[in-house]
Amino acid sequence: MSVERLRIAVQSKGRLADASLSLFEKTGLRFRRDKDELLFRVEDQPIDVLRVRDDDIVQFVLSGTCELGFVGANVYEEALLDHDRPDTEIVARLGFGRCALKIAAPRAFDYAGPKSLAGLRVATSHPNLLKRFLSDNDVEARVVELAGSVEVAPRLGIADAVCDLVSTGATLEANGLRAVDTVLESEAVLVGSTRALSGELGEAREKFLRRLDGVLATQGTKYIMMNAPETAIGEITEILPGADAPTVVPLASRQGSVAVHAVCQESVFWETLERLKAAGASAILVLPIEKMMM
Ligand code: PRP
Ligand code: ZN
Repeated sequence: MSVERLRIAVQSKGRLADASLSLFEKTGLRFRRDKDELLFRVEDQPIDVLRVRDDDIVQFVLSGTCELGFVGANVYEEALLDHDRPDTEIVARLGFGRCALKIAAPRAFDYAGPKSLAGLRVATSHPNLLKRFLSDNDVEARVVELAGSVEVAPRLGIADAVCDLVSTGATLEANGLRAVDTVLESEAVLVGSTRALSGELGEAREKFLRRLDGVLATQGTKYIMMNAPETAIGEITEILPGADAPTVVPLASRQGSVAVHAVCQESVFWETLERLKAAGASAILVLPIEKMMM
């Protein structure tokens, strides 16, 4: 009898591929990385990682072939609009691969809101999201569906505007286009089926999600420690960015002085350190946090 294994889909190539795999590895799952292989077997847990194309990731999760998938929110939301009652959901937002699906038009185009698109042709590889945007704004326009290279459509004379993903903005710039409206803010997400999983599969899923939470929780968080006069603790606590009550320990050698330790949920900038120093803190250390379990 074959043992049941949890299946997780990730991009085989593309912008999210490396970041997804490295996030995966941070959860402590060990597998052999073989570039040509479609399937990675995790060594010590009943988990298989399937490396496939973007569109397949969503279809695999929607059809129940895979229990979880790492994918861009834009790809997921687009596919979702083809399904009546999908039993999938966004399990976690991953904080990388940020981009936005935007309406863009030639620089000379006079855009005064969605109504400016009325009667025009808009090229996109996200037809469902574009149609929803148009109908939400009560605009009738023609959707020109393209599989890729959307940005060249106006120059080819097959569209008046585009609805395309923008990350750095370099592609728009290079094609004489300008972003004029936002259809969807996107980032990498973990999607999963809402069906309950029992036994070993359910356990593997829970364990993976708990560890992923731990990895995500430490992203951008820092451990900060310093010495300070006891009288300055109130002020120091207020300066610390996104910290819960800090740990305060008396210093054996110096009366009236304490060591302050805290986990900061936000970035710690030089300005913060300067303010802490001005408040009386000394020997300030900021350390990265590798793992965290609450
Ligand atoms: C996306 C998008 C733009 C580009 C935007 O294309 O369609 O062309 O990235 O990125 P930028 O703002 O940083 O320039 P992708 O590379 O995913 O390939 P595709 O055009 O074939 O879909
Ligand atoms: Zn493109």
